[in-house]
This record gives sequence, structure tokens and C-alpha cells, in this order.
Amino acid sequence: MNPSEFSGRHVLVVGQGLAPVAEEALAEARFEIAAGDRLDVLGALHAAMELVLIDAEAADAVDLVVAIAGLAALPNPPAVLLAGSHLPTSLVRALMKLPRSDVIEAPFAAVDLARAAGALLAQAPPVVVQAPTHEVNARCWSVVGSVGGCGATTIAIELATALARRSGPNQRVALVDLHLADGAASAYLGATANMMLAEASAAPERIDTSVLEVFATKIGDGLDLLAAPRDAKAFAKVSQTAVCRLLEMSAQVYDWIVIDLPRHHQPWTMDVLAGSDEVLVVSELTVPALLSARALASEVETELTGGAQPRIILNRLASRVFGPAPSLAEAEKALQRKADGGITSDWEAAAASVNLGGSISHHRPRSKIVRDVGVLVDRLTQPADVQRASASRGVRA
Ligand SMILES: Nc1ncnc2c1ncn2[C@@H]1O[C@H](COP(=O)(O)OP(=O)(O)O)[C@@H](O)[C@H]1O
Ligand SMILES: [Mg+2]
Repeated sequence: MNPSEFSGRHVLVVGQGLAPVAEEALAEARFEIAAGDRLDVLGALHAAMELVLIDAEAADAVDLVVAIAGLAALPNPPAVLLAGSHLPTSLVRALMKLPRSDVIEAPFAAVDLARAAGALLAQAPPVVVQAPTHEVNARCWSVVGSVGGCGATTIAIELATALARRSGPNQRVALVDLHLADGAASAYLGATANMMLAEASAAPERIDTSVLEVFATKIGDGLDLLAAPRDAKAFAKVSQTAVCRLLEMSAQVYDWIVIDLPRHHQPWTMDVLAGSDEVLVVSELTVPALLSARALASEVETELTGGAQPRIILNRLASRVFGPAPSLAEAEKALQRKADGGITSDWEAAAASVNLGGSISHHRPRSKIVRDVGVLVDRLTQPADVQRASASRGVRA
């Protein structure tokens, strides 16, 4: 494309420093120019705008991710060319959600900019497809450990992968790790943690379904992971509104949501529990873990009148018990309630999967853990009357 070929095209330049080279490169275009801190202009583009040139260095990276995600949600977004060097991965991922986008590495000459802009504009604008309106009837299961290390994260991962496999290609499942400071789900799955919830907390109303797509990491088989990168101060930074908004948007996008919930109370814990169709308290078969499970389950019941009744899942059940571990009857006595599910111990499968990065159902599909999680999913997805009948048979069923 030579400069005259941009004649009359509507181009927005974000970042005044980029304006001179843009004006040289796309000489006869119709320019609008905004400062790098005026990303709000991207939220109010007129329909004729064809190309947006952004100086990534002039704008705040997180604001830019949010603004670009907003563009990606438009029915007919303009082409976007981002200029900068060493661009953060999150920014590049946000850009990839746009039908027409490219990156130009700084420093560059006017001729390079003209070439990149020309190539983008030469691509056909996307065909507008009306997205089907998603009925909001997502089901949400929260998994919480009675003590650290009892297997809550492992079970949350296996539940989410089992649901994703069963529900088929038309349904989407999210595993949401709310251990915001040091969640383990991304490491267990060998996946990157892309959820910048702390940054988004400054303007939680901007967390919409397109921002969610940027936050999500695809795991495969219809499963997405929403997990925050490690940040020791994350719990102080993430607001209650941001967590609620995240889950509200997730319910619009996903059919199933499995939450790996921290057991320590956060300002948003009760909101999460109140929005959960199932609350699964995971315990191991040790006396302290069982007593904690009992206390946690009754706390949830007291604080959440009318909400989901917590269910106890006993993890790492040994087929042969070595040492003085409580029997199931003793465990249920300590719990003062029946256990609703039991997962067999299989250290080899659990360790191999976390070391390889991925679910146990992927790396060790024949593990008893996978079988037992399958039984639990069957039970929890049965209609309520069938559930009541099998509940009376307890873990042994
Ligand atoms: N059923 C099981 N059999 C054997 N090992 C398990 C089982 N469930 C979990 N583990 C292992 O126990 C350890 C703690 O599990 P994790 O899911 O991180 O617990 P939590 O999230 O409750 O802290 C991990 O090494 C995990 O692989
Ligand atoms: Mg955990």
C-alpha cells in the first residue's frame, strides 16, 4: 500500500508520540489522535473507525489489556496495530482475541508502519455473527479443604476435568482458583496463570466476558483455568466486588464452574458459598482433619442458612490401612455426619500427574482416583430425589 492508498481511511492513533510517524506513513488517512492515558476513547469508537494504532509504551499495560478486550467484544471491531517492544504476554493474548491485529516492534520507520497497517487493512473485515445469547444457568461447585494438604486442589481439578469430558463440546467448564496469593492449580496443570484480578480490582465493572477470555487459560476438552499469578499481597489487593463480578461473568460464559476455595475466611467467602450449588469439604482420614471438617461444615451451615448443605468428601482412603487410621465408621462419628464421597489413595498417580503437569484423568486414566471422582460426579449430577436415596447409602454405595 502506498500512502495515498490510506486516503480517507479512518485511523485512531493512541499515544501522541506515535502521531508524527503515523501521519508520515498513512499520509492521507483521516486521523484522530488521543493521549496514551485516554484509553476511554476505545470504548466510544464511531462505526467508521477502521484502524487503531496504539503506542503500547504510552499506555498503562493493564488498562490496555482491558481496553483491547473491550474492543474484541464489539460486533465489528477495527483492526488494531500495537507498537512497542517487549510487550507483556497478557497484552499479546488480548490482541489475539481480535479478528485483525498485529504488533510492530519499536523502533520502526514510517515505511514499516505503512506496510503493517496496509496488510491489516487488506484483510477482510470479519463477518458479523450474532453470538447466541447464553442462558445463565451455570452450576457452581466449591471445593474447600478442611486442613492444608488434604487434597482439595487435586479433587477440584479432577471434578472439573470429569465435568468437561462428560458435558461435551457444547458446554464450557471453568476451574476457578481463588487461592489468589499462591494457588497451586496452574502448577498442577502445568498451565500459565493469566487472571490479573488484583489489577482489575481498581475498576471491577470493567471485568466483562471479553476480559474473562483474556484471564482464562485453555486446558483442553472444554476446560478453562482461571488462576491468578503468584502475588503474596493478592488477598489485600483483590476486592469483594472484583471476585463477585468475576464469578458473575463466569456464570454467563460457562456452564459449570468448579472453585478451589481457600478455607480461611475472606470478605467474599460467603458470597462464593451462597452462589454455590454444592459445597464440598474435603478431609483426609486423620483425627485433626476430621474435626476441622466437622467445624468447617457447621460454620458454613450456621452462616449460610438456606444455602447448599456442605458435603464431606474423604480423600486418600486406603484399601489397606496401615497404622492407627480411623475407620470409616469412626470417621463419620468424629464428623457427626455421613461422608458423601470417598476418594481412594493413589500416590503414584497423584504425584506423576503433578510432576508431568495435567490431570490424573489425563496421565493415569485408570487410577482409582479417577473412578471415585466419576462416582462422585454421577452422584452430584443426579436429580435431587435419586441423590437423597443414594445419600442414605453413604460412601459405601
Ligand atoms: N487421593 C489421593 N491419593 C494420593 N495422593 C493425593 C490424593 N489426593 C491428593 N494427593 C496429593 O496430596 C498432596 C496435597 O494435595 P492438594 O490437592 O495440593 O491438597 P490441598 O489443596 O488440600 O492443600 C499433593 O501432593 C497431591 O498430589
Ligand atoms: Mg490447594
